[in-house]
Amino acid sequence: MGKRAKITIVGAGHVGATTAHWSAIRELGDIVLVDIPETGDMPKGKALDLLESSPIAGFDANIIGTTGYEETKDSDIVVVTAGVPRKPGMSREDLLNTNAKIVRSVVEQAVAQSPNCILIIVTNPLDAMTHLAWKVSGFPTNRVVGQAGVLDTARFRTFIAMELKVSVKDVHAMLMGGHGDAMVPLPRYSCVSGIPVTQLIPKERLDQIIERTRKGGGEIVNLLKTGSAYYAPGAAVTDMIEAIVRDRRRLLPCSAYCDKEFGVGGLYVGVPVILGGNGVEKVVEIELNDEERAAFEKSVAGVRTLVQQLGLL
Ligand code: NAI
Ligand code: 2OP
Repeated sequence: MGKRAKITIVGAGHVGATTAHWSAIRELGDIVLVDIPETGDMPKGKALDLLESSPIAGFDANIIGTTGYEETKDSDIVVVTAGVPRKPGMSREDLLNTNAKIVRSVVEQAVAQSPNCILIIVTNPLDAMTHLAWKVSGFPTNRVVGQAGVLDTARFRTFIAMELKVSVKDVHAMLMGGHGDAMVPLPRYSCVSGIPVTQLIPKERLDQIIERTRKGGGEIVNLLKTGSAYYAPGAAVTDMIEAIVRDRRRLLPCSAYCDKEFGVGGLYVGVPVILGGNGVEKVVEIELNDEERAAFEKSVAGVRTLVQQLGLL
């Protein structure tokens, strides 16, 4: 009999709790929700409430909440959503220094309990926080990965499906760069059942969809007013957890360490990767034309500036 995966989610807020919900329903493993002592019994309350949904939803999982790290011992996966989200008018980059302190302390405590885990970073600014988590953990690069591209391509796929009035199931998309408004959706590598979207949607309209995708996070912030998106982000993290615990070897856009790859030179940025039981199994290098490469390099330069501001380069 196999043992269930142990999944720790640090930050029991909107994204953390939603990730726990999706992961429980998909029976990906036992779940530990962690938050800070200032939140009192909140993580315990959310964990118990979710557990009590299991007879109705029909899943088997142990779900506990805590404000300490002992219960997280020997986790297979640690998801870091701890931090402050955006408010209207704030960029993801505004969150840099506040969230860097939080991510540093979370990663130190989490890896002390789970030295063999795979870290999935979600806190913004995403690529810089993933780079920081990698440095603080001392882990090999394959065991630290950031979530951004699964969410951003989900937005791109949603808008393409809406435009063409086709099922989202048939829409695939690729996107590269940092998780900021300079991200690089790649229409040449996006298709509906194998047909490139460039043949299905006129360029002018496609450009509008790309722009909406780039600003997709801000669109939700402006609607919610009190925070940022969490349903789609939670679903995106869950797809990554599943790829790892079930060793699916999914080909997904994730924030991964690139040195020679794409000529990045030692930085976490969004690229196509194979995600499986060992985390990032491989960065998949694809051919970029001049325009795509220029946009990618611009986005990477933005990430590099943030990582430099953190004193990590
Ligand atoms: P939230 O405010 O609902 O939840 C954050 C939680 O982190 C709070 O419960 C807070 O108490 C907790 N926290 C703060 N410091 C902590 C610490 N030191 N240890 C443990 N927990 C701590 O925020 P939300 O909406 O869940 O967003 C969380 C983060 O995820 C933000 O930085 C947001 O920008 C980012 N995000 C990233 C996405 C991505 O695609 N990478 C998508 C959506 C959000
Ligand atoms: C998003 O893209 C805020 O990064 C978050 O929704």
